[in-house]
Amino acid sequence: MRVKVFISLFILLLMTSIWTGCEREAPMEEIIPVDTGRDITAAVALLHPTEGNSVRGTVTFTEVADGIRIVADVEGLDPGKHGFHIHEFGDCSAPDAASAGGHFNPDGMPHGAPDDMERHVGDLGNLVADEEGKAHYERTDSFISFGGDHSIIGSAVVIHSGEDDFTSQPSGAAGPRVACGVIGIAQ
Ligand code: CU
Ligand code: ZN
Repeated sequence: MRVKVFISLFILLLMTSIWTGCEREAPMEEIIPVDTGRDITAAVALLHPTEGNSVRGTVTFTEVADGIRIVADVEGLDPGKHGFHIHEFGDCSAPDAASAGGHFNPDGMPHGAPDDMERHVGDLGNLVADEEGKAHYERTDSFISFGGDHSIIGSAVVIHSGEDDFTSQPSGAAGPRVACGVIGIAQ
């Protein structure tokens, strides 16, 4: 009788150790977003003109209660509206800034306006330049983020020569890129 109990206990222990061992070695299927391990609360992009243009400016991104506050001040524009987006790659090295890629669109959505429910994460609308070619823009956005798969850190801000019509696909028919700046971590 004692032997039987001992054998049963032994088998139970053996099965438990095999089971926990299997669990430990099971592959992780959960996708973990890229995490820099830094507590980022602000970011900045300095915009430089593309070849043949003189558009420059600064865009700041600051964490607020209901999203991220975007403030842009840009000069050297033609008066009127200019497409204003976050593009996928933080690479402004090409003379026409084509190296920045297309609109930042991690969710595979259609192009749209900043207040649309379905839009690219990078769709920030238009800058409106006055007669002196200066534009000021402010918006609190809940799509962009400083962490996870909507993180804009390391992407680029791009300004276009023409207006974003919010309907033409895939980028609002806003024309050539007149300025580009990489988004970096700020204090
Ligand atoms: Cu763009
Ligand atoms: Zn877009």
